[in-house]
Amino acid sequence: MTSPQQELLEQARQAAYKAYAPYSRFRVGAAVLAEGKVYAGVNVENASYGLALCAERAALAHARSHGAKIIEGVAVYCLDAAADASGAVPEDQTLPCGACRQWLAELAPDAWIVTNASPRPYGVADLLPRPFRLKA
Ligand code: THU
Repeated sequence: MTSPQQELLEQARQAAYKAYAPYSRFRVGAAVLAEGKVYAGVNVENASYGLALCAERAALAHARSHGAKIIEGVAVYCLDAAADASGAVPEDQTLPCGACRQWLAELAPDAWIVTNASPRPYGVADLLPRPFRLKA
């Protein structure tokens, strides 16, 4: 049985092979499920290291660029996350960074979020309880 979360994770996994990560060698794919469609994104690095774009923000921008507004779920797949001694990938290597959490809070406030090492789907408020907002 495949769940919507597992299906979206598979889309994120496939996208991750397209990552441009020659500096970190840490390839990430993200997939956004919005209004019945899937929008993928990958991390895109730069020789000026601080300019790296995360996969989550690339995928969210992809969805918005196609007019999708209601985001149901986001999957993140870190292909190169290293397994620990027990053979499991530690979850913290796969969770969205702080900047991506802020983007999720604004663009996907009601989405579930899964990663290739998360034990269960998270809500945005689980990851960023008190996001910055301009309006109350
Ligand atoms: N990265 C992501 O794509 N998403 C995250 O949430 C964390 C980090 C990327 C940025 C960089 O290209 C590489 O992973 C290593 O930090």
